[in-house]
Amino acid sequence: MKTLEVRLPGKEYMIEIGSGTLSQAGRTVRSVARGNKAALITDKTVDAIYGDMVRQSLKDEGFDLFTVLVEPGEGSKSMGVYSEVCERLLEGGLTRKDIIVALGGGVVGDLAGFVAATVLRGVDFVQIPTTLLSQVDSSVGGKVAVNLNAGKNLAGAFHQARAVVIDTDCLETLPDRVFSDGMAEVIKYGAIEDAGLFQRLSTLGGRPGVMSEIEDVVYTCVDIKRRIVEADEKDEGGRMVLNFGHTLGHAYEKSGGYSRYTHGEAVAAGMVLIAKIGEETGMTRKGCTDQLRSIIRMYGLPESIDIGLEEYAKAVGVDKKAEGSMINLIFIEDIGKAVIRKMDTGSLMEFIGRVE
Ligand SMILES: NC(=O)c1ccc[n+]([C@@H]2O[C@H](COP(=O)([O-])OP(=O)(O)OC[C@H]3O[C@@H](n4cnc5c(N)ncnc54)[C@H](O)[C@@H]3O)[C@@H](O)[C@H]2O)c1
Ligand SMILES: [Zn+2]
Repeated sequence: MKTLEVRLPGKEYMIEIGSGTLSQAGRTVRSVARGNKAALITDKTVDAIYGDMVRQSLKDEGFDLFTVLVEPGEGSKSMGVYSEVCERLLEGGLTRKDIIVALGGGVVGDLAGFVAATVLRGVDFVQIPTTLLSQVDSSVGGKVAVNLNAGKNLAGAFHQARAVVIDTDCLETLPDRVFSDGMAEVIKYGAIEDAGLFQRLSTLGGRPGVMSEIEDVVYTCVDIKRRIVEADEKDEGGRMVLNFGHTLGHAYEKSGGYSRYTHGEAVAAGMVLIAKIGEETGMTRKGCTDQLRSIIRMYGLPESIDIGLEEYAKAVGVDKKAEGSMINLIFIEDIGKAVIRKMDTGSLMEFIGRVE
């Protein structure tokens, strides 16, 4: 097992990464818990595979435990489910010194984290992420949220976990598409920060290769996220580099009604397009786009998604009548080196039209 410490003043916490950490999760929760009651929040799919193991481990530590189950899927990141979960926690007798344990992918982590940030004006929580995306991305950094009709993640908070327990064995049971989804973020870390990681992913060649070195791959990604979050917890500057591929990816997600493409598929195509634009403007070294394309293909993700210019315009906030406004875009100068650049949305649209 490897560990990392996130050093945020007054909110330091440990991240454990390894094979089999799930069966020891109770010990970790015990080491940060102030009370004796624990509420396990998980979705039905994850509960069926891993629920009993985590419950046993919490009971072994003497916790008075109850479980709150939600349906799997993005639909559970809603105000309706949020309030139901809060009610269930209070019925279960949760108090301010007790602890919430979030077991599942990013949906459960974001929902349970937002519940933890707000119920009783905030209680402690521990993240046990079970998807690749949640292990390398959403469980670290303290962003928690639910969706509103007005858009995704629009009701949220910054609420850091007290600990994160990452069991890489959980990834064995992921469907291929969900694994690939997470790989888009892994590729992103290589592209923005770590040329060595990027090269390694291309050598590993696919899911079996990555799984043979998974502890190290997840550690490398989490360490990058940790560094970025420590430097800019509230997303006011450097943390923006994590959005590489995401602005254009958002256009694909939106055009597919947030269901046709996974987040990772959209981000993969978004990274390729912004790299193309980067090459066109001279900001990105020629050849980076092809390197991205080949690795994206290797991990079962799309290099492009076909949508109309109108769809891009909607997603980047261009109004036909309005003047173009400046937005922050993340480019790479080379593999492993991200930069933040302002561009007006009008020019962005022109470039999209030119390279698409
Ligand atoms: N907070 C952040 O910083 C942040 C960052 C990125 C993404 N997110 C959010 O994360 C969410 C997506 O998370 P996700 O991709 O983990 O999706 P998810 O939580 O919906 O999980 C995907 C599916 O896999 C199932 N599953 C989970 N673990 C499993 C396992 N080990 N074996 C088999 N099946 C398993 C789930 O039941 C679900 O059906 C989005 O809502 C997104 O907004 C948040
Ligand atoms: Zn993402």
